Amino acid sequence: MSNKDLQPDGVPNERRIRRMLDAAARVAMRAAGDVEPNPLVGCVIARGDTIIGIGHHRRFGGPHAEREALADCRRRGHDPRGATLYCTLEPCRHHGKQPPCTDAVIGAGIARVIYARRDPGPESGGGDRVLCDAGIASLCVPDASDLAVRLSDPFVHRVRTGRPWVIAKWAQTLDGRIATRTGESQWITGPAMRRRVHRLRSCVDAVLVGVGTVLADDPMLTPRDVRRVRRDPSRVVLDTHGRTPRDAALIRSASEHRTVIVTADPAAEFPSPVRVLRVPGGGAGVDPRAAIEAIGQQLGAASILVEAGPRVLGSLLEADLVDEAFVHIAPIVLADQGAMAVASGRDAPRLADARRLTVLRSRSIGGDVEIWCRRTDAMQP
Ligand SMILES: NC(=O)c1ccc[n+]([C@@H]2O[C@H](COP(=O)([O-])OP(=O)(O)OC[C@H]3O[C@@H](n4cnc5c(N)ncnc54)[C@H](OP(=O)(O)O)[C@@H]3O)[C@@H](O)[C@H]2O)c1
Repeated sequence: MSNKDLQPDGVPNERRIRRMLDAAARVAMRAAGDVEPNPLVGCVIARGDTIIGIGHHRRFGGPHAEREALADCRRRGHDPRGATLYCTLEPCRHHGKQPPCTDAVIGAGIARVIYARRDPGPESGGGDRVLCDAGIASLCVPDASDLAVRLSDPFVHRVRTGRPWVIAKWAQTLDGRIATRTGESQWITGPAMRRRVHRLRSCVDAVLVGVGTVLADDPMLTPRDVRRVRRDPSRVVLDTHGRTPRDAALIRSASEHRTVIVTADPAAEFPSPVRVLRVPGGGAGVDPRAAIEAIGQQLGAASILVEAGPRVLGSLLEADLVDEAFVHIAPIVLADQGAMAVASGRDAPRLADARRLTVLRSRSIGGDVEIWCRRTDAMQP
């Protein structure tokens, strides 16, 4: 470690911390869809500027990132004693499906631990104190790598609220319309962007629409044409009065792919194996918060991809339930005020009434543009 990279107290400078935490975050992202409801976690072990081990939590129930990185370090013939361990999340201190990471870190003789975000879990959190008690300098650095901090947003959200992480996805024209005035929306974006949607579906526990979308598009909502389906999501319809046609594609294919109707109608029945969740009515249909909580608790869903039309999307936004959004914009303009807006049903006379999201990334995919954003208050460390 060269002196210019150290602050007076021996802590690596911000540039090095960012580089290491960014590397840890990037490797962790490979496991999206494989580890939830656990957090995505990445870990780098370094001596000065040299990375001597790198690892990530690869699958639910499997070894945690710290043990993976330590194993990688030894595989490469390095001794981790005296090295610095960089981790996107505070090392855990509890016995779950795996032994505590703090034991592995202490046992390996690591000198210093730097992590991007505290673990808010009542059992898993608090590893920092265990490390300090064992004489290991342990430091939370939340402002060096945005990528490393953001990685844990869904996990922290679930621990704090008990609700699944809700991701909205919609395809729109340049002038913000998601269907023509006659309800035509297939297809606004091109084939490459549609493949991207299938990949998003393949990483979540549930895909959600309202009955309006079922009636208009008769969708399947399954992940297709992806290299590996990491999760086979439940297909969920918000359907206050049980109007979903019994011959809809979602109902007909229910024995191959789970289909769930969320209704407020105590008498609504659907043929087996369609599952029916009953929640109270409220506002524009079923109570949106009760619906999201029921999908979390009764289906065990950690993440929900919302592919609904303007009514359901508007009511989720109104109830402040959208945590993240993928907005797919095609370079076409309808310029028809009768065409459907992205979301409806809110009263927002002032700009101050707008829901604000923070853009994480925008990129071009096959001639369309994807904007990836997240609610700003989900981003508090
Ligand atoms: N471009 C895109 O990305 C995209 C995506 C999806 C849909 N679309 C288009 O959107 C159009 C359909 O729009 P839509 O608004 O009718 O679809 P939607 O939002 O998927 O479904 C709306 C229906 O869901 C039911 N619902 C149950 N609980 C609700 C709640 N809490 N809030 C709101 N609605 C609730 C309501 O019917 P009940 O009262 O009978 O329950 C409501 O009419 C179609 O033309 C479709 O092609 C476009």
